[in-house]
Amino acid sequence: MFLKLQIATADPFKTETDLLVIGCFEKSSAATISSLEKALGGSLKELVTRDEFKGKKDQRLLVSTLAKLPSAQAAVLGLGDPAQLDDAALRVYGATAARLALSEKARSLAITLPDGISGDRLRYLAEGLELGAYRYDRFLTGERKPRRLLSSATLLTKVKISAADRSALALGQAIAAGVATARDLQNDPPNELTPALLAQAAARVARNHKLKVTLFDRKKLEAMGMKLFVAVGQGSAHPPHMAHIVYTPAGKAKKKVVLVGKGLTFDSGGLCIKPAQGMGDMKTDMSGAANIVGLMAAVSALKPNVEVHGIIGCAENMPDGDAYRPGDIFGSLDGKTVEIVNTDAEGRLVLADCLAYARNLKPDLIVDNATLTGACAIALGSNCAGFFATSDTLAEQFARAAREAGEQFWRLPLLDDLKDSLKSDVADLKHTGDRFGGAITAALFLREFVGNIPWVHCDIAGPSLASKAYGIYPKGGTGYGVLTFLRLLETFS
Ligand code: BES
Ligand code: MN
Ligand code: ZN
Repeated sequence: MFLKLQIATADPFKTETDLLVIGCFEKSSAATISSLEKALGGSLKELVTRDEFKGKKDQRLLVSTLAKLPSAQAAVLGLGDPAQLDDAALRVYGATAARLALSEKARSLAITLPDGISGDRLRYLAEGLELGAYRYDRFLTGERKPRRLLSSATLLTKVKISAADRSALALGQAIAAGVATARDLQNDPPNELTPALLAQAAARVARNHKLKVTLFDRKKLEAMGMKLFVAVGQGSAHPPHMAHIVYTPAGKAKKKVVLVGKGLTFDSGGLCIKPAQGMGDMKTDMSGAANIVGLMAAVSALKPNVEVHGIIGCAENMPDGDAYRPGDIFGSLDGKTVEIVNTDAEGRLVLADCLAYARNLKPDLIVDNATLTGACAIALGSNCAGFFATSDTLAEQFARAAREAGEQFWRLPLLDDLKDSLKSDVADLKHTGDRFGGAITAALFLREFVGNIPWVHCDIAGPSLASKAYGIYPKGGTGYGVLTFLRLLETFS
């Protein structure tokens, strides 16, 4: 948590703070501007006509108050139409305010609550403020270490504050802390976050949240028969690990869900080595795992009536004398044999064994989260993830959760026609197909390992990492999908 978050019944123009943020609907933009102008003693109108601020969504106006108000700066953020202000938009409102405060080097901000926003819905504003205040500065020293940092935020309301308001804020902060955990793990460099350290980080988060956790080292993975998983990690000096976290609700669980995350702490491509350009981004090839760890923390705060298992498969894909090779054949936890074609298609091998492990837990649903294919990023761009589902009902359920969470997930088809390309002459399966439809063939390969358990596969290769900040996401690791998964679990409970 980055912020000391408070709520006060107070007049914005009498509030002392570094940055005052005023949310403004389109319909009341003229009134808001003139009240601010009055408070500032004139001179704002000209600025407003020049900027054409109308309170439209994403519009903003930032002014210095020149000591005419107790706040040093004031910003008006357009909120558009009140009907558009859903939970996700409320979150973006908070995130935009916090990011503005960071860029203006404000230590404190005060933000007005739009009319009618109170109680449970404050959770989303709290989430947004924390998500926008996120920064990763673990490795900055001296001059580069930021000194003026946003550390407190006050929500300003016109009405009386209730206990429900305060607990909603605390819940929102706890959920955002889960997302921040995911982002931190994503941003950690691969020399500081080896497979063993990622598994340990998962265990630490689990213990901090009083969740049960079991760790598996390479020996245990071998003994269980997770041969594909172990093969991927055998070319690295840092052996593979798996963590299994369990959240059990207090009451009787309505469903049992297993979540699986791809945790490649670094993906060099192995012997089929990647080009140097962009290889460094492959430190975030553990985004799926990071998201599941962060999600488990958020789940422990939200306490849905669902039994939730988080499985994270951690390995490093490196070229070495002992690295796995194209042409190798391995067995798997499921029993099927797999011929290796391209050592850069490592994620699906780790996931295949983790999915088979997940299936053995006999859940009602398996959902995985993985930076699986460049093809998915090519298809959908950097701000949208792809997902696959084993039934239309499940796909609709998942799509709705994503929509409500404000994250973009687009369904891709499990086209049976492409299955032929996974046929091998010497083993039960090859693990890659043609270049065309690469995201689909990866999903078809995974499907071989889930049996008949309902399953959703998410390919977050595009949005896991952002090249610039947008919405609730910072530049760098985004924690993409945590909020969608949380929303899905919430709808089950
Ligand atoms: N981790 C990559 C996928 C990826 C690419 C994630 C870009 C994020 C950004 C994955 O392991 C990979 O290398 N996939 C290959 C598969 C191919 C060899 C069949 C790919 O997409 O090129
Ligand atoms: Mn790869
Ligand atoms: Zn990978």
